[in-house]
Amino acid sequence: MPMPDALTPFSVIARKRDGFALSREEIASFVRGATDGSWADYQLSAMLMAVFLRGMDRAETIALTAAVMNSGRVADLSGVRAPKVDKHSTGGVGDKISLHLAPMVAACGACVPMISGRGLGHTGGTLDKLESIPGFRVNLTLSEFAAQVGKVGLAMIGQTGELAPADKKLYALRDVTATVECDPLICASILGKKLAEGIDALVLDVKFGRGAFMPNKARARQLAETLIEIGAAMGKPVRAVLTAMEEPLGRTVGNALEVVESIDFLHGSGPADVGEVTFALGEQMLLLAGIEKGASEARSRLKESVASGAAWAKFREMVAAQGGDLDAVDDPRRLPRARLQAPLINARGGYVRSADALGIAQAALRLGAGRARADASIDPAVGISHLVKVAERVPPGGSLCTIHASDGDSLAEARAALERAIAVGDEPVAAPGLVEEIMGRT
Ligand code: URA
Repeated sequence: MPMPDALTPFSVIARKRDGFALSREEIASFVRGATDGSWADYQLSAMLMAVFLRGMDRAETIALTAAVMNSGRVADLSGVRAPKVDKHSTGGVGDKISLHLAPMVAACGACVPMISGRGLGHTGGTLDKLESIPGFRVNLTLSEFAAQVGKVGLAMIGQTGELAPADKKLYALRDVTATVECDPLICASILGKKLAEGIDALVLDVKFGRGAFMPNKARARQLAETLIEIGAAMGKPVRAVLTAMEEPLGRTVGNALEVVESIDFLHGSGPADVGEVTFALGEQMLLLAGIEKGASEARSRLKESVASGAAWAKFREMVAAQGGDLDAVDDPRRLPRARLQAPLINARGGYVRSADALGIAQAALRLGAGRARADASIDPAVGISHLVKVAERVPPGGSLCTIHASDGDSLAEARAALERAIAVGDEPVAAPGLVEEIMGRT
């Protein structure tokens, strides 16, 4: 189908449907249509499905990413002298890394202007976790955001109407039209938002496995390659850390519970797997920011930021700047607490063979820790803590986790789901790998 004289939603959809590469103007028209409402939802949805089925080449993906980034304002952080670097995870279960990593990196001298998302389906969201701190405001304007990044070196906010509004619209439609798992759409969504933050460089945690939306490492690699290539084409260095998401990260799943685990990390304790992912990502952030030249120096500096209390001080500074209750982070017993707490006992004991991230996330969803629909509300207090890790030994009558629930019905349902999700056997099991590969290093 040749390019028609007049550019209409119908003509653009039809050309993609028939497998043609779209021009920059056609892509701009689609993204404008998502932003100003001039394309109907059914036209946007048809276009998303056409892209899902036909794909996009490199030039189209760059044009789509640039159009999403420019669909709103781009934060102007030119007044901030420190290097500006951010981290983004493609989504997992128990993934609280941003909460403590961002203040650690800021305490090392970089700026972290972080725009985060909410949890949807089985994956959790940084914004929901932050909002379990009473008073914490995630809805700063872009000007407030820029001012705080300049002053504190760190801000964590939600996607405002000002920033990449096309992504907000398109992501909501993708979520209900089975068009999420598509590399050009994911790339435009992630990079469109992140580059609108005004960053110099980006580190991605690309997760794969049962609790991630990339099913295996090969698909995660492919997505990471696209993100690195398109980032470079747009003048921003991007690195990707590929991490397994077969079991949840850490020992907690649920909003306030995960905040407590991050606070523990900033005080120098916390599960080994949380440390492994935190340091792998943090090292790359400090290298890209030019703050350290080698990975081991970067790791030592990050450890020192925790040991000296500088990272904890940075976290408190951010909480105070965004209206959060410092008493609640200083004494996490003041964070929301669920009415009921019950252990999940394993009578026989043995070695943990698997702790299925998806099954555990579904249990957390049933407790009310996540949302099945974008407009649903969540309960910040509920979730799972003291979760066993694969390969650990559980004594007979030992606990596999503690369930935090608001009522007996959800407790019983979560218990049944967790019994299905956590398998214990007689034979010892090797601890699984976690950080699998780092991509994008030149
Ligand atoms: N995260 C995003 O922000 N967008 C996607 O498309 C997928 C994951």
